[in-house]
Amino acid sequence: MTDEKILAAVDPEGPAPEDGELRQYYFLRKMQEFTAGRAKTLERKMTACVVTFGCQMNFNDSEKLTGILKTAGFDITENEDADFVIFNTCTVRENANEHLYGRLGEVHHLKKSDPRKVVAICGCMVQEKSAAEKIKKSYPFVNLIFGTYNLYCFPEYLYRCYHGEKHICELWDKSSEIVENMPVLRKYPWKSGVNIMFGCDNFCSYCIVPYVRGREKSREPKEILREIEKLADDGVKEIMLLGQNVNSYGKNLPEKTNFAELLAAAAQIPGIERIRFMTPHPKDFSDDVLYVIRDNPKIARHIHLPLQSGSDRILQAMNRHYTKESFLELVDHIRSIVPDAAITTDIIIGFPGETAADADETIDVVKKAHFDNAFTFIYSPRVGTPAARMEQVPEEEKKQNFDRLLSVVQETAKEQAKKLQGREFTALIEEMNDQDTSFVTGRLSNNMIVHVKGDPSMIGRFYRVRLDDCRGFYYFGTALGEMTGPDVEVR
Ligand code: 5AD
Ligand code: SF4
Repeated sequence: MTDEKILAAVDPEGPAPEDGELRQYYFLRKMQEFTAGRAKTLERKMTACVVTFGCQMNFNDSEKLTGILKTAGFDITENEDADFVIFNTCTVRENANEHLYGRLGEVHHLKKSDPRKVVAICGCMVQEKSAAEKIKKSYPFVNLIFGTYNLYCFPEYLYRCYHGEKHICELWDKSSEIVENMPVLRKYPWKSGVNIMFGCDNFCSYCIVPYVRGREKSREPKEILREIEKLADDGVKEIMLLGQNVNSYGKNLPEKTNFAELLAAAAQIPGIERIRFMTPHPKDFSDDVLYVIRDNPKIARHIHLPLQSGSDRILQAMNRHYTKESFLELVDHIRSIVPDAAITTDIIIGFPGETAADADETIDVVKKAHFDNAFTFIYSPRVGTPAARMEQVPEEEKKQNFDRLLSVVQETAKEQAKKLQGREFTALIEEMNDQDTSFVTGRLSNNMIVHVKGDPSMIGRFYRVRLDDCRGFYYFGTALGEMTGPDVEVR
């Protein structure tokens, strides 16, 4: 999805516009000329590869990077052998950083045999000063580094890479404006993420996100709804509204609005059949959001509600602003208003000061809340966050508590899954089954995965399915027919 009108409006022969999207479209036009010329000498189009680490937000950003590269005239490939490779990094836990260093080693080899190859790194990790310094020092073959606040300047940096600059490092420490209308190339034709806000103001004491993604900033509702309408026109059926703390959507906007209003407005857009959102914060989950979900079958029956810990002492040290009791009350309250909603969570084990008794409190919440699934993480100290300066838990203790938690999480998730046995639901078919190509894989509104006999023509369409055979976290089922009307029973 490129804004052809803006692209056509820029004059590549004239001076570069001062700033904003026009300036970037100007450099895209310049890059188109460059890649066309290089294609003649190479006798093939230039190729580019985008490698993504981390969360949905990064995945969404990568679709923008890919859109820019495609518009600039590159063929997109999954192969790191490409003429241009960019790593969109994550730094939420240390292992994400380690992963990048491993991949950079491999790319270095490729670059030795192709010195014209351009290597770029962007995203959360390079917003950390120490990581950016390490890359500059230890991986000098990296040509371009830029951060999360200036992603929209990628066309300009790309141009500079190919016009004489061997090393570019552009890291801003805060965002300026929200630049709309940059090109996007979606990986899936039928689903898309939609950023509704950027950054986070919560400062949970373990989390690096507020430092690398900056202060919370909401997009204007009319921009978001216009984007969703365009996606619907383009054939998108499912959207995921993305923000670090979606419940506080709208707080900094000049005109008063909130997440419930946005959700309700998105549900009115024809063509969009399923709406997901990520991530709410338990401390300010309001009833009006729950009523909007209840009243709109298009909104997925799935709420991801990060618990992080079940111990009041640890929750306080984490700066989470809720207690074990209030979290459990919220879970009950959600189930009383939207009884068919699956509830999933994130849990951190091994936060500084956490004892076996604290971990027991967390395990108790998992049992009482009956989570449909939980992502469990071992605490990873992040430089610059308050928790990194606290006294750390020995590795062995973290590991033991983690293993205890994991077995309860798995038990609970299986019990929840079993409850759906034999029932009929609506599934959006997402892909071919990677083990057996006579099957396709679909997802229910409540996020449950189901494999049914089928063929590629079913991908991106809604089917009524029966859940026959529970295999723990997923089902084998039967496709009963394509859905033509609205989803009658959502869970
Ligand atoms: N260590 C471990 N897990 C973390 N998360 C965030 N920061 C850390 C950290 N320093 C987890 C939280 C969050 C999820 C996206 O990542 O559970 O919800
Ligand atoms: Fe990190 Fe807390 Fe913000 Fe989530 S809400 S991004 S865990 S600071």
